[in-house]
Amino acid sequence: MSTWRSPRERLFSRIESRDAVCGIIGLGYVGLPLAIELARSGYRVLGFDISEAVVETVNSGVSHIMDVASPVLAEFVGSGRIEATADLSRLADCDAISICVPTPLNKTREPDLSYVVAAAHAVHFTLRPGQLIILESTTYPGTTREILLTAFEEGGSTVGEDFFLCFSPERVDPGNPQWHTRNTPKVLGGITPACAEVGMALYERVFDRMVLVESAEAAELTKVYENTFRMINIALANEIAQACDVLGVDVWGVIEAAATKPFGFMKFTPGPGLGGHCIPLDPHYLSWKMRTLSFRTRMIDLAGEINSEMPAFVVRKVADELNERRKSVKGSRVLLLGIAYKRDIDDVRESPALEIIRLLQEKGAEVAYHDPFCLTIADDGHTPIRGLPMHSVDLTESELRSADVVIVVTDHSTVDYGLVAANARLIVDSRGIMREHGESIVGLTRRSGQAPRMRLVG
Ligand SMILES: NC(=O)c1ccc[n+]([C@@H]2O[C@H](COP(=O)([O-])OP(=O)(O)OC[C@H]3O[C@@H](n4cnc5c(N)ncnc54)[C@H](O)[C@@H]3O)[C@@H](O)[C@H]2O)c1
Repeated sequence: MSTWRSPRERLFSRIESRDAVCGIIGLGYVGLPLAIELARSGYRVLGFDISEAVVETVNSGVSHIMDVASPVLAEFVGSGRIEATADLSRLADCDAISICVPTPLNKTREPDLSYVVAAAHAVHFTLRPGQLIILESTTYPGTTREILLTAFEEGGSTVGEDFFLCFSPERVDPGNPQWHTRNTPKVLGGITPACAEVGMALYERVFDRMVLVESAEAAELTKVYENTFRMINIALANEIAQACDVLGVDVWGVIEAAATKPFGFMKFTPGPGLGGHCIPLDPHYLSWKMRTLSFRTRMIDLAGEINSEMPAFVVRKVADELNERRKSVKGSRVLLLGIAYKRDIDDVRESPALEIIRLLQEKGAEVAYHDPFCLTIADDGHTPIRGLPMHSVDLTESELRSADVVIVVTDHSTVDYGLVAANARLIVDSRGIMREHGESIVGLTRRSGQAPRMRLVG
């Protein structure tokens, strides 16, 4: 018979002694770095993934996530601190389970919670007294209570007594050299105060700083608010860029000047559009939820519209510049520099580059790309561009010279922009990285060196 008085006390004790086994469902961009931090903090980690390929690579000590170095993973795998498995029945062996599965949108841009539901079912199936479950996937306020709690309580267990349930959003910013999983403050909210207490006990031993909020819903909303803030401010920068184009003013100069204000301004930059698994998608989780409550999130809708028009804006710039040179898009050879959704990462999910390629192909251009981080665009059956799989071409003088136009879509830091400037016939730079490189460059707004063209009205 157990000497512990309650599942909660037993769990606390196992967390304190580092005997707790930590399960992670989903070993992707979020789950694998979390596995490393839990292992670094002294816990044994069981990572679960439905992809046999992911399980195999992790168990062989090879990282498929850029922010996790293979030697670090290999050391933890070698010492038995991290193990991956596709056998979800082993969830029963875990004291704490963090759920890090995808939360995409479906074809009609509504939340697709099928991965969360599948993970919740797997946990429910093996749920036993004294388990802590923390949902990390970004989602709308109410998910933890409405989906996970409802499923877990079906068997008659009581939250806060038999098992503990929290939401703690992941804020990882892939490729960020300063802020990573451990040193980024971690928000957590529990379904009950006891849940929050247990969740904090574990994560306080893993993260440098914890931020406790009043409920799971507050934690869920914190995450979507952060990403909505970013998405709306990027939309504003994109709108200012388009306004600058009409005014004939260089948008980068304006942004840099505004950013010299030491208070009350935060710098956001325009670009070819939003990408990734977070900023373009997460706000739709909030707007969908609010629609079910008869509340319209107008700023999200408008910002989404502005951002999603940016790939077409870039293609219009390309068409205008080719037109100036008596060329049509049809038959032109276009080289994209960068297809990842942002600098120095290998993620093309939702990347605006894909829409730019699609639009150019639709207009009859012959499109190639160079991206040192993304060597292939695979044919996943969803990407609506022709000629897949596509492979990155080498960035050579002859490749640059043979292009009618080079479009900078992603400003990777390892690209030789001097080589690009010296050899490309025409450059459309959607990121402002080529500004230092001379006159043949067209930015999002106007050609560098061109005088402002203010129109007087009235
Ligand atoms: N990528 C980011 O930068 C980032 C940042 C913050 C938050 N998030 C959020 O974190 C969540 C996870 O995103 P990600 O980028 O890590 O996704 P990902 O696609 O990189 O990884 C998810 C993993 O989960 C696995 N999986 C799916 N369903 C499963 C199941 N039922 N059981 C076991 N494994 C399963 C997949 O095979 C995959 O390996 C999402 O909600 C995302 O919005 C992502």
